[in-house]
Amino acid sequence: MTNGAGVGRADFVVVANRLPVDLERLEDGSQRWRRSPGGLVSALEPFLRARQGAWVGWPGVADIDVDPFAEEGLRLHPVRLSTEEMRDYYEGFSNGTLWPLYHDVVAPPVFERRWWDAYVRVNRRFAEAAAEVAGPGATVWVQDYQLQLVPAMLRERRPDLRIGFFLHIPFPPVELFMQLPWRTEIIRGLLGADLVGFHRPGGAHNFLWLSRRLAGLEPSRAAVGVRTKPGVVPFGDRVVRVGAFPISIDSAGLDALARRRDIQQRAREIRTELGNPKKILLGIDRLDYTKGIDVRLHALHELLDEGRVEAGEVVMIQLATPSRERVEHYRQMREDIEREVGRINGEFSRVGRPAVHYLHTSVDKEELVAMYSAADVMVVTPVRDGMNLVCKEYVACRYDLGGALVLSEFAGAAAELTSAFLVNPHDLDGVKNALYSALTVDPAEGRRRMRALRRQVLTHDVDRWARSFLEALGAQPHTESERD
Ligand code: ADP
Ligand code: F6P
Repeated sequence: MTNGAGVGRADFVVVANRLPVDLERLEDGSQRWRRSPGGLVSALEPFLRARQGAWVGWPGVADIDVDPFAEEGLRLHPVRLSTEEMRDYYEGFSNGTLWPLYHDVVAPPVFERRWWDAYVRVNRRFAEAAAEVAGPGATVWVQDYQLQLVPAMLRERRPDLRIGFFLHIPFPPVELFMQLPWRTEIIRGLLGADLVGFHRPGGAHNFLWLSRRLAGLEPSRAAVGVRTKPGVVPFGDRVVRVGAFPISIDSAGLDALARRRDIQQRAREIRTELGNPKKILLGIDRLDYTKGIDVRLHALHELLDEGRVEAGEVVMIQLATPSRERVEHYRQMREDIEREVGRINGEFSRVGRPAVHYLHTSVDKEELVAMYSAADVMVVTPVRDGMNLVCKEYVACRYDLGGALVLSEFAGAAAELTSAFLVNPHDLDGVKNALYSALTVDPAEGRRRMRALRRQVLTHDVDRWARSFLEALGAQPHTESERD
């Protein structure tokens, strides 16, 4: 890491709530950087590194000033948040209001005026930081729901910039969005961008409708395609484009990692450590109430109860990265999940052989890939997810065509990964049947499904996602037709 060095103005700037690295304070008073959680960082970091861009974001700890620094081709510009702002802007408005509202109100959103004021204030600070970092005529790519006011605030300060915005979570149905007391301000904030991107065409259509209803504009009415045919919203002397760009992963990188002998060796070790069960089920998530971790635990519990699945023969690993631990819904959900793990293990484990291995931690990439390689069934059951990268990562790692994917219809990825065992996470019997089918799938059928999944994931990687977005933004020359 180089302090201050090489951190001048940049032609390409990503603005996100978090930097790709988080500052961690250790008990002995020292501190170190570690990788930030979540799909946004997984997707964007490799891409931006290759482009030698700048990244504006929060360093993950409140009340500290960190100077800009350079790290392996990335220029990082930390934005300071106070303890109160972390509470009101991050835990409050971002994760107590917008997150549940945008995820189909699976938990009730809280509308708190103090939180909104902090959201405005912090968005302004990010816009100011981006305006300082961006060189003349630069491209600035603003990310996600925490920063929806930044496009308009940045345009006001720097009309010379090309501004893109991408939402990494679902954009809700209009009936739900209309509950938001500050709905017009959010839509106007996003309209500051030249291109507003969503994972799915549905999100784009919702936004187009809202720009008519709330901003009194005349958006196009034609259907938006995937990576093609963006909608347009004439806005003063500008035109805002609105499109769908499903995000993805570094598929080739994961495929190569999974092929490494040491990783395959580690995958075999994991199976041995688990007591050589016939089948390993795997869940990997941020510990979030949208991820449906409870759904898969209930399904497994009933399958074990009914004797359709034999404890010892089938073992589950649930890896859960700690997330937003001071937000009440997250605390409650953690308790519920840990209680359910305890129940299953109490009823079905033997000494030294738990039925569910629950790890409340994050692991490094090598271990993650070894787990994907070891798992016979990957269980991804969110009740709502913008995309979900875990399922794509699993597929990218299965070069052996082994394994089976159980995937919720309510993850954005389900539209692409149609050869998975698709489930409605609200239908417990359906989830149980899908788990059972995945556990007992005929090997030839399993390979056929995995081949089809891999064809999709390997040809639609994160590079293609970023290129298609930036081409539509006019920030990158067109290299090929993005039509499927
Ligand atoms: P979200 O962005 O909501 O967290 P995604 O599925 O899109 O969900 O992305 C999650 C990312 O975090 C993936 O790249 C996944 O590999 C990583 N991840 C999730 N849980 C863990 C964990 N326990 N240890 C390491 N990485 C994890
Ligand atoms: O993709 C959704 C997202 O909220 C990202 O914006 C974020 O980086 C990630 O999940 C992790 O969440 P948090 O930054 O709140 O820990």
